[in-house]
Amino acid sequence: MGLKRIVAEQFGRPSGVGGLLSTFMMNRLNVRMYAAVEAEIAPLGQAILDLGFGNGYLLKRLAKRAKNRYYGVDISADMLAAASRANRGAVESGAMRLEMGSAEALPYPDSFFDLVYTVNTVYFWPDLDLGMAEIARVLKPGGRFLNLVYTRAYLERLPFTSQGFTKYADEELARAAARAGLVPAVEAIQAGISQKISATKP
Ligand SMILES: C[S@@+](CC[C@H](N)C(=O)[O-])C[C@H]1O[C@@H](n2cnc3c(N)ncnc32)[C@H](O)[C@@H]1O
Repeated sequence: MGLKRIVAEQFGRPSGVGGLLSTFMMNRLNVRMYAAVEAEIAPLGQAILDLGFGNGYLLKRLAKRAKNRYYGVDISADMLAAASRANRGAVESGAMRLEMGSAEALPYPDSFFDLVYTVNTVYFWPDLDLGMAEIARVLKPGGRFLNLVYTRAYLERLPFTSQGFTKYADEELARAAARAGLVPAVEAIQAGISQKISATKP
C-alpha cells in the first residue's frame, strides 16, 4: 500500500499507533475549527453530538467548560477506546456517552439533539445525502448542525488527499444540507483554508 493511502486511511478511520499519532496531529492543526465549535456551545442543559470524535479531544474540552449532555459516535473501534480513555470521568459519571456507529445510521431517536457538529469527517462518508438526512432526523426542531471542513482548494494542495478523500465545495455541502430540509449558511473560519457550514432545522 502506498504512503499516501496509508496516511489517508489514518485520517478517514484512524487505528493502532498510527491512529493515535494522526489524531494527535489533528488536535494541533484543527485548533481554529475547535474554537468555532466551542463558540457555539451553550453553558448547560443541551444534548450535543460529536459525529466522528477521533481521539475525543474536543469533547473533553467542551465537557470541561460547559455542563451539557455529550454524545459521540465514530466508526473506529480504536478511536472509541482512545476517546473513552481521554474522557473517562465524564463517561463514568454519565455526562458523556460514546459509541461506535456511522453517520449513515445514527444510533439515536428522532428529534434528540440541540446541536450536532462534525469536524473534518464529511470527506470520508460513503453517502453524503444519507448522512445529512440522518443528522436532520436526530436534530430537534430549531436544532443546529455545524459542519467544519477545509476548503476544497486547500485540500487539493495536500498530496495525501488524492486518495480516500471526497473534496467538497462549500456550496455542495450547503446544498446537501438543504436537500435534507435544513437551512444552511456558510462562514469562513480562515479565509480560503477552512469554513463552517452551519444549518438549522426549521
Ligand atoms: C480526520 S478524523 C477527525 C477527528 C476529530 N473530529 C477531530 O477533528 O479531531 C475523522 C474521524 O471521523 C471518523 N469517521 C469517518 N467516517 C465516518 C462515518 N461515516 N461515520 C462516523 N465517523 C466517521 C473517523 O473514524 C475519524 O475518527
